[in-house]
Amino acid sequence: MSSPSTGSRVSNWIDHRLPIISFAREHLIEYPAPRNLNYWWNFGSLAGIALVLQIVTGIVLAMAYTAHTSLAFDSVERIMRDVNFGWLLRYAHANGASMFFIIVYIHIFRGLYYGSYKAPREILWWLGVIILLLMMATAFMGYVLPWGQMSFWGATVITNLFSAIPLVGESIVTWLWGGFSVDNPTLNRFFSLHYLLPFVIVGVVVLHLAALHTHGSNNPLGIDKKTKKDVIPFHPYYTIKDLFGLGVFLTFFAVFLFFAPNFFGEPDNYIPANPLVTPAHIVPEWYFLPFYAILRSVPSKLGGVLLMFAAIFVLFLLPWLDTSRVRSAKFRPVFKVFYLLLMIDILALGWAGGQPAEGVAVVIGQIATAWYFLHFLVLLPLLGWFERPRPLPESIASAVLGDRAMEKA
Ligand code: HEM
Repeated sequence: MSSPSTGSRVSNWIDHRLPIISFAREHLIEYPAPRNLNYWWNFGSLAGIALVLQIVTGIVLAMAYTAHTSLAFDSVERIMRDVNFGWLLRYAHANGASMFFIIVYIHIFRGLYYGSYKAPREILWWLGVIILLLMMATAFMGYVLPWGQMSFWGATVITNLFSAIPLVGESIVTWLWGGFSVDNPTLNRFFSLHYLLPFVIVGVVVLHLAALHTHGSNNPLGIDKKTKKDVIPFHPYYTIKDLFGLGVFLTFFAVFLFFAPNFFGEPDNYIPANPLVTPAHIVPEWYFLPFYAILRSVPSKLGGVLLMFAAIFVLFLLPWLDTSRVRSAKFRPVFKVFYLLLMIDILALGWAGGQPAEGVAVVIGQIATAWYFLHFLVLLPLLGWFERPRPLPESIASAVLGDRAMEKA
């Protein structure tokens, strides 16, 4: 490993005045990462790449998009047909949003499994939850921009939820719309905010990484690093692993992009927005479906709205709701079972959210909603007290290297 003084005279000159080179060396090259990180630790860097891809494709798309109710739909059609590689840009951006959510949901479930939200990483976790909320707001407003039927009706249904707030609800909705229905002022402000929020996300990601590098990464064993033998430098070990992961991700992305670009889309959004014709079945994008099911599981509008927001806000409390002293599920045999049940539960919510709000889908949605809150508010605190975890290894190095860890120790 080189020290700052071993660079060229030019880089030393720059670094002495603005230490960006030593900063990059410290955080990207020498950063001591646990030696046992598995492939689930690839998803943070992948999320960063997905964010950059969304920003780059979005900026170029905005050059040919028109945020006006009478032109938005046609401007998107023109991008698809007449703008050079416009179809590629638009499909990359639309499918990129789905890829981003797949990556971030895996990233969150990794954290839930290995207890990465536990002390001393609570603020790192909170920043993640804030990123998730910002991503949801950004995606919701982006979906309105093509001004198709689902754009218009999705925006109408979701913004109307605020009318459930007692006394001030109606005024809030009028304020959000900038008028008395979803119309041109709404489209305009959504475009403006859809352009702005990703940069706010970048800012929160920087804080997320600053928090990460304060105590270092958690790892599959969930135990703290103790000696030099427990860690390896980020470069070349994890730069090469992240690069390999990126290759796999781009291949996965390309399959959708080139062979099924409308897989995640809704056919109704190829019909221009018409305030006089309500689609038979208004559904949000797939990544909102579990929350949509929670919203619809309560007959009262206000109750549904509160419960939907509570489903995210409970995540802020997670570091304290999970009372176990052991981080990783690897050593928590009972937690492992409940973790699996939670995954099934969220898939069930997703399914229920995609069905018309009637019959068995509603009942399944209600049961799954109840289980979701039961998991976080009751089972997790109890598990920490009653579960008997398996013994933890001595150190990361001893678990990974066995006897070799002790050699020359
Ligand atoms: C734009 C979205 C995001 C980006 C770019 C991002 C980036 C990263 C990166 C690069 C890492 C280190 C590598 C890794 O551990 O995989 C990381 C770690 C982490 N992230 Fe995120 N993240 C994002 C969203 C989230 C969200 C939504 C949450 C939770 C709600 C979250 C929670 C965490 C936690 C707890 C860690 C520490 C993991 C550990 O050390 O075990 N992140 N993030």
